[in-house]
Amino acid sequence: MRLQSLTLQQFRSYPSLEIAFGERDLHVLQGPNAAGKTNLLEAVAILSSGRSFLGAEEDDLMTWGTDHYRIRAEVRSDVGEGRTIEVVSQRLPRRARAGFVNDVRLPIGRLTGVLPAISFLPQDLSLFLGSPSRRRDLLNDLLVQVSPAFAASLATYQKLLKQRNALLRRIREGTGRTQDLVVWEEGLAREGAVITFSHLELLKVLQLSLEEELRALGESWQEVRLAYDRHPSARSGSSLSLDGRATTREGIEAELKHDLLHFRERDLLIGSTTIGPHRSDWRIDADGRSLASFASRGQQRTAVLALLFLQVSYMEVRRGEKPLILLDDVFSELDSVHQERLMASFKGHQVLLTTTHVPPSLAGAKLWVVGEGKVMEQGVGLGRRE
Ligand SMILES: Nc1ncnc2c1ncn2[C@@H]1O[C@H](COP(=O)(O)OP(=O)(O)OP(=O)(O)O)[C@@H](O)[C@H]1O
Ligand SMILES: [Mg+2]
Repeated sequence: MRLQSLTLQQFRSYPSLEIAFGERDLHVLQGPNAAGKTNLLEAVAILSSGRSFLGAEEDDLMTWGTDHYRIRAEVRSDVGEGRTIEVVSQRLPRRARAGFVNDVRLPIGRLTGVLPAISFLPQDLSLFLGSPSRRRDLLNDLLVQVSPAFAASLATYQKLLKQRNALLRRIREGTGRTQDLVVWEEGLAREGAVITFSHLELLKVLQLSLEEELRALGESWQEVRLAYDRHPSARSGSSLSLDGRATTREGIEAELKHDLLHFRERDLLIGSTTIGPHRSDWRIDADGRSLASFASRGQQRTAVLALLFLQVSYMEVRRGEKPLILLDDVFSELDSVHQERLMASFKGHQVLLTTTHVPPSLAGAKLWVVGEGKVMEQGVGLGRRE
């Protein structure tokens, strides 16, 4: 997929911006700190996944002092089909958000997947040491772009979760009825089972080539496993895995339903739902130990890079389309071997890369200078890469 142009209105530090990317693959967006580089990638990622990769609220995305934003892109698929994608979000006169493909309005959830993209942020370099939410987002962002059914389940699950949590708090305050929880719990178990099942299946697929990717990057652990951590269950299911947990969609649904009921008292005390895929996590075990517990910084980065390559090939196979690659400020953090490997792996993909300083290895890229709400074209360096 190629991003041909990007237009922003009142998005973050850009009151108004238009960029025509043209046919080149590698685009380097250079500028000092706080110039607005990440804001640009964030805008593209919103078109792709429907949400901010920084988890920002809608109000924070609108240029300060304004009440709406608009992000629009012209894209061209690998087989040459052109499309426009647009997201409009407003605060006033009432909160609303809509997506448009070829100027036809769609619910925002249906937009995900139209522009396949993979983002890689500086905080991903310490993915295994950071909070579980970024690791969950990694799985969810990949799945929403390849499966509309998953995207729908995730959106419904998040709505139901808010409703159950609100009811838990009302019950605690004496204004809600316990028997009303059942409706939300049945929905949460149903949609939660789709999410957990999809997470397990995705990890299985990524697992298939993880060892090979790591070896290619110079790490040769004997046995590498992607392990999924669910909440401890109070139930024994019927179709069980080795760790005693349900692995079929139906089995997971029954387990979730049982556990939501079982842990109600605790949830009522805390005022929020402690059971379900929104609390799950995953990790890499190498030779029986969690990577986070023993691997050096360099080894962790290697593992994160291996995962990045796996995400890209997973997306390419599932979508039959090369995803757009968004690399925020990570290039200069890598050693020269990994920089080379990154560039070699993404040959043929369109890459938007932000950096404060352009390293010599990016000399062949198309260079853009970012600052003061503008993005200025600087031409092409020597030694074409494409
Ligand atoms: N809603 C908003 N309205 C106006 N300006 C905003 C808004 N949100 C963020 N900004 C501005 O954008 C700036 C940050 O932009 P961004 O994060 O893209 O910088 P950057 O070029 O990636 O910097 P760094 O190199 O430090 O990562 C902030 O300093 C802030 O002034
Ligand atoms: Mg930045």
